Amino acid sequence: MAIQPLKVGLIGSGAISYTYLNTMVNTFDILEVVGCSDLIPERSKARAELFGIRQMTNEEIFSDPDIDIVVNTTYPSSHYEINRQALLAGKHVYCEKTMAATYEEGLDLVNLARERGLRLGATPDTFLGGGFQTCRKLIDDGMIGEPVTVDARLVRSYGAGGAAPFGRPGGMFVPGGSVPYDMGGYYTHALIHLLGPVARVSGFARKRPRNFTHPRNAHYGEPVEVTGATTIVGALEFVGGCYGTLTVTSDGAATDTCITVFGTEGTLICPDPNEFSGPIYLIRKGNPTPMLMPFTHGYCNLDPSTPTLSGKREPGHNAHRGMGVADMAWAIRNNRPHRASGEMGLHTLEIIDGIAKSCETGLVYTMQSRPAQPAPLPAGYFGGDAEGCLDN
Ligand SMILES: NC(=O)c1ccc[n+]([C@@H]2O[C@H](COP(=O)([O-])OP(=O)(O)OC[C@H]3O[C@@H](n4cnc5c(N)ncnc54)[C@H](O)[C@@H]3O)[C@@H](O)[C@H]2O)c1
Repeated sequence: MAIQPLKVGLIGSGAISYTYLNTMVNTFDILEVVGCSDLIPERSKARAELFGIRQMTNEEIFSDPDIDIVVNTTYPSSHYEINRQALLAGKHVYCEKTMAATYEEGLDLVNLARERGLRLGATPDTFLGGGFQTCRKLIDDGMIGEPVTVDARLVRSYGAGGAAPFGRPGGMFVPGGSVPYDMGGYYTHALIHLLGPVARVSGFARKRPRNFTHPRNAHYGEPVEVTGATTIVGALEFVGGCYGTLTVTSDGAATDTCITVFGTEGTLICPDPNEFSGPIYLIRKGNPTPMLMPFTHGYCNLDPSTPTLSGKREPGHNAHRGMGVADMAWAIRNNRPHRASGEMGLHTLEIIDGIAKSCETGLVYTMQSRPAQPAPLPAGYFGGDAEGCLDN
């Protein structure tokens, strides 16, 4: 029996839309992309021509009765409004991070989707890749015993060094867009996938000032308006009993990344959660030599030397970003929960905002949201028919 694909309209034809369209048009048979739109029509025209789809307006996407799912790859300050409009138009929605700028807006979207009987999906979906699915299997199979603590850390250096104005409103320094929001979700989604939801958080959050540093920038030497946290350092208590630390900063000098889970029987060194795969090391009690573990799941990173269809460098072109949309489409067809859920996206927003609230009040913050831990993907699906792992 042939698959009946769900039809998709993509809004926001910027940098990351390349990878999404490539994944949705060329990788997953459950998805059929109808068209794409953008505030800047030249961008949607270029993507539409490259992928053989229709150039559309937002309104045409909302009112097209054939479109089932709106994929929102606009920048964060547009996410809430586009998501809301799409849900009100009766579409399922899948949104890039973060799905809203605040917990309150995110909650509004989750409630609206629930009231209307629609799906809301939220990135990151990198935890669906072979890297973090293999890690989950190792934990679920007891290879590290009971998880006791986890360290999650991202260090980046985000300045305001460009000659041109910011490509998105407020740059990377606003709520919903600053590094704990922009990058923190890779870490929180990976942690929720591995260990389940978080019960309480505490910690510190800072908005570190910086100036525009490029002499040809119109605001050279002036301060950047920093309204979103640029550093958070949080303590997490998972519902399942594990403790953790989460550090996310754009105030460092060089990139550093880590997720390491420490258990009663072993230690699991996970790959970069911004990728679909990467080296995984397991250390077992009594044998301090880290063992490089084979992947048990497909959808790992693609060969980075694979040329892009556009002939230009495209961000994330070696990844399967958009796999979460395919999982959501299979979930709709099979009437099961989807994995990269709006509830997970909301939990991420609350973890980040909760750490900032704890810093302000000096108190431990009790989480209100509690998403289900997403079901692991079945192991052993590799190659051309790997999509079968989502048909469950
Ligand atoms: N660039 C990356 O490497 C990357 C990687 C992973 C995730 N993301 C996420 O993807 C999202 C988009 O990032 P990007 O780098 O592609 O940004 P971008 O600025 O290149 O693209 C966003 C596009 O959305 C359009 N847009 C904004 N508001 C709109 C509206 N109301 N209606 C229609 N179009 C609208 C803009 O004109 C722009 O072309 C962000 O949430 C980002 O966090 C980006």
